[in-house]
Amino acid sequence: MNTKNIYILGIESSCDDTSASVICNGKVLSNVIANQEVHAKYGGVVPELASRAHQQNIVPVVQQALEQANITKHDLNAIAFTRGPGLMGSLLVGTSFAKSLALGLNIPLIDVNHMQAHILAHFIDEKDSKTPPFPFVCLTISGGHTQLVKITNHFEMEILGETIDDAVGEAFDKSAKILGLPYPGGPLVDKYAQLGNPKAFKFTKPKVGDLEFSFSGLKTGILYFIRKQEKENPNFIKENLYDICASIQHTIIEILMDKLKNTVKQTDIKHIAIAGGVSANSEIRKRLTLAEKHWKWTTYIPKFEYTTDNAAMIAIAGYLKYLNGNYSDISVTAQARLKVTE
Ligand code: KG4
Ligand code: ZN
Repeated sequence: MNTKNIYILGIESSCDDTSASVICNGKVLSNVIANQEVHAKYGGVVPELASRAHQQNIVPVVQQALEQANITKHDLNAIAFTRGPGLMGSLLVGTSFAKSLALGLNIPLIDVNHMQAHILAHFIDEKDSKTPPFPFVCLTISGGHTQLVKITNHFEMEILGETIDDAVGEAFDKSAKILGLPYPGGPLVDKYAQLGNPKAFKFTKPKVGDLEFSFSGLKTGILYFIRKQEKENPNFIKENLYDICASIQHTIIEILMDKLKNTVKQTDIKHIAIAGGVSANSEIRKRLTLAEKHWKWTTYIPKFEYTTDNAAMIAIAGYLKYLNGNYSDISVTAQARLKVTE
C-alpha cells in the first residue's frame, strides 16, 4: 500500500534559537538549529539582539532544513510555527515568516504552543521510540517554566502544579552566574557536577505545596553561602567548583524527584515523562531511569536533541494538528504569554 507522504515544516523562534525542521509522517528528516552566541557575554538573553539574529538566521535556516530533508518548498503540506509563549520580538519573526510562506505556497498554517510542543516531542519518530500512553504526567523543565502536566490526549492537558517564582532552568543559570560561569550555565553545571561530590555542601530545599516548586530562595541561599565562604577564602569557588556544582545540581534534582513522587502518589499515574531544556540534564535522566527499577514507574526521557528548543517538536505538534484538520486562520497573532492549556 502506498500511503501519502505528509511533509510539515516547523519553525521555532521563541527565545534565542532559530530553528527549522521538516518531518514526514511524524519522522524527522531535518532539524536545523542556529544558536545565538551573541548573548553569552551579557549573561542572559537580550531580547532586542535575539529578534535581530532571528531575522538574519531564519531564511538560511529554513533553506538548510529543506535541503537536508531533500525536498523543495513545493513538497510541503503545511507550515507550523511557535505562536508563544516567548519573547514577543522573537516570536514575531517566526510568525511573520510562517504566515508569508504559507500564503505564498497556498498551504495550511498551523500555530503551535511551545510548551505543548516540548511535551509532544515524545511523539517524534513514534514507530522507532518508546512513546507514553495516555494519560501520562510530564514534568516540563525549561528556562522559563517548571510545571507538572497531566496529558489526557495530544491536546488535552491540565497543569497539576508549577513554580511560584523562578523556573528550574533559571535556578541552574543564576547559580552558574554566581559562580562566574557564562550563560546558559545549566549545561556547564551539569558537566562540572559529574566531577564533584554531590554531598559536599548542603542547601535548603524550599517548603511549598506538594506539587508546587520554588527556586528563588535556593538561588539566594547559594549566593549567601558563596559570599560567606569567599570572605574566608577568596579562591573558594575555584578550589571547589566541581563540588559546588554537584551539590547545587543534587539539591535541584532532589526537589524535582520529590515532586514527581508526590504526583504519582496523588494521581496514581505511573507513566512519567520529562521535557524541556533541563531534561537534557544527565542527573535527572539517570534518576528517572533508576525510578523504573525502584518504584516501578515507566519513564519517558526525550532524545537529547529534542530537549532544548528545536523545531522538530514544533513540526510534530503541527503534524498532529494537521491530522485533525486543526489549521490556523491567517489572522493568528503571536502571544508572549500562553499557558500549556491554551
Ligand atoms: O527549553 P529550553 O531550551 O528553553 C526554554 O524554553 O526555556 O531550556 C533552556 C534551559 C536553560 O536554562 C539551560 O541552562 C537549561 O535549559 N539546560 C540545562 C541543561 N541543558 C540545558 N540545565 C541543566 N542541565 C543541562 N544539561
Ligand atoms: Zn523551550
